Amino acid sequence: MNILLLGSGGREHALAWKIKQSKHCHHLYIAPGNPGTTTLGENVAMDLSDFNAIAEYCKRNDIQMVVVGPEDPLVNGIYDYLKSDVSLKNLIVVGPSAEAAKLEGSKAYAKAFMERHGIPTAAYREFTKENFEEGKQYISQHSLPIVLKADGLAAGKGVVIAASHEEALATFQEMILDAKFGEASARVVIEQFLTGVELSVFALTDGHEYVLLPEAKDYKRIGEGDKGLNTGGMGAVSPVPFAAGDFMQKVVDKVVKPTIAGLSSEKLVYNGFVFFGLINVDGEPFVIEYNCRMGDPETEVVMPRLSSDLVELFISMDKHTLGSQKVIFHEKAAATLVLVSGGYPESFEKGKLITGLDSTFADHTIVFHAGVKQSGEQLLTNGGRVLAVTSYGNHIPEAVETSAAAIQQIQYDGKYFRSDIGYEFRQ
Ligand code: AMP
Ligand code: GLY
Repeated sequence: MNILLLGSGGREHALAWKIKQSKHCHHLYIAPGNPGTTTLGENVAMDLSDFNAIAEYCKRNDIQMVVVGPEDPLVNGIYDYLKSDVSLKNLIVVGPSAEAAKLEGSKAYAKAFMERHGIPTAAYREFTKENFEEGKQYISQHSLPIVLKADGLAAGKGVVIAASHEEALATFQEMILDAKFGEASARVVIEQFLTGVELSVFALTDGHEYVLLPEAKDYKRIGEGDKGLNTGGMGAVSPVPFAAGDFMQKVVDKVVKPTIAGLSSEKLVYNGFVFFGLINVDGEPFVIEYNCRMGDPETEVVMPRLSSDLVELFISMDKHTLGSQKVIFHEKAAATLVLVSGGYPESFEKGKLITGLDSTFADHTIVFHAGVKQSGEQLLTNGGRVLAVTSYGNHIPEAVETSAAAIQQIQYDGKYFRSDIGYEFRQ
């Protein structure tokens, strides 16, 4: 079949890499894609907020499947838009409806959903301008630290963990009264701080049945030892050793199954990935957040560790037969190290010449492009996160070392990466 993949990051390069290997994939188009995806399919210049242009492109190019990478088009209703077009009625769209995508698009919606279905999550209250004074009162009596979350999408910046009541009150005021994140912070969720180790679990579902994909752990802080500012993700590993056995069974029983049953009982239309952002609190899983898409950089380890044919799983999702699918995971570990621009996640320069990508890497290393731009024959940095270098290994440290060795061959001005990815899992 002809497949259109939407997005342009490392996540989409990894999805394209996996989709291209499917026996069901004929032509692969990536919109807008990046220089890395040109080796796997045809990049198509497209504005992902222009749903009409996407629908017309599907008709003109006989597209049978659309895979949506990022959350914005999903939250804005691309699923519903494409599915409401009668001439696209057989199109498989991988992603939830706008209503179901609120699980990511509205923190308050997600919390209420979890409460309705008894899914473990931090205790919370939500506030707007209307009950602002009550919110101040709530904060002043809250234990420290206090977690404040802008309700809507805020490009990953809408969560503040305040160490003092003063900071929490100031943040609360900025979000609600000063509209720090515009409409997204008109409503604020205040929740209990949970202490534990985070991990990301992924399911593919048709809203009734599901399969699990390999789990992953990402490393969000810029500095080694998990210090410094939050980023979009500095690396990821899979598998996550503590997720085996009992803990994973609890994740399935207490989180995954009740979530899918909740989607089903509430008749939410969902045909795509559910990303469970979890925290392990003394052996018990709690949901920190839902996302309605794959994670980045988790996808750069999850796709390499998925041995099953991804497009076949999408087709099975469409046929409502996921319940009988056996998903096969690669037995090796995978680690991705993200190369970023100097200065990121604060201000950084773009347009630096990247060299060494034509080096011979270990044959179990894959270099995924993220913030990279082609200029004639040259590749230039074009974002904070530039490349994601994934390697397989017999265990996590070996995979990390192999990626670190590949990174030595790649150069650009201001190159920075964390070499301690997976540090907790070193023997
Ligand atoms: P989110 O955007 O919801 O993923 O939140 C960003 C990050 O904030 C998470 O990955 C956690 O590291 C942290 N976080 C969010 N909620 C909590 C919480 N209730 N307790 C502790 N950390 C949290
Ligand atoms: N790695 C976290 C995310 O994609 O939201």
